[in-house]
Amino acid sequence: MTHTLMDLPFDENALEPYISKETLQYHHGKHHAGYVSKLNTMIKDTVYADMKLEEIVKKADGGIFNNAAQVFNHDFYFNGMTTIATSPSKELLALIERDFTSMEAFKEKFLEMAAGLFGSGWVWLSINDSGTLIIESFSNAGNPLLLDHTPLLTCDVWEHAYYIDYRNARIDYLEKWWELVNWDFVSDNLEVCSQ
Ligand code: FE2
Repeated sequence: MTHTLMDLPFDENALEPYISKETLQYHHGKHHAGYVSKLNTMIKDTVYADMKLEEIVKKADGGIFNNAAQVFNHDFYFNGMTTIATSPSKELLALIERDFTSMEAFKEKFLEMAAGLFGSGWVWLSINDSGTLIIESFSNAGNPLLLDHTPLLTCDVWEHAYYIDYRNARIDYLEKWWELVNWDFVSDNLEVCSQ
């Protein structure tokens, strides 16, 4: 199957001034598109050619893994942002309060891990096999599927996600990204995995 670049769920200038149109043009239009294109080239005539994206992520390694995981991660990242005000579902909030004490404590821990991740990578909110919410970070293209955890939310901390707008001030990007989190998306992901 041929993998396609997702459409952004908002206009390219919709996240301004937090995330600029220029950043999205490069991040989605160049980086994300590049991963999709490289993946399609690399899987041609291989055992991965007819697999769904998640299956490739779980089974491949090397360059095919890197590009498949980057497509999955970026799909998740862009779907996890919105300009519309959203809030966590009652169920999600209850789990956040159970596992992190409060929403504020969860935010602090998530952003602290994202700020502290050395180099390029991703920070995720996910659910482990005991049903506990966890925050985990992965270098490069890593994601929770590798550990059989269910992803709920991710933040891209590769420099290409923020360098045009924030230069080296990753923490400023993280604080603004937090304002854009689509809690409906996170709540829906929880609901699907609870079924
Ligand atoms: Fe990225």
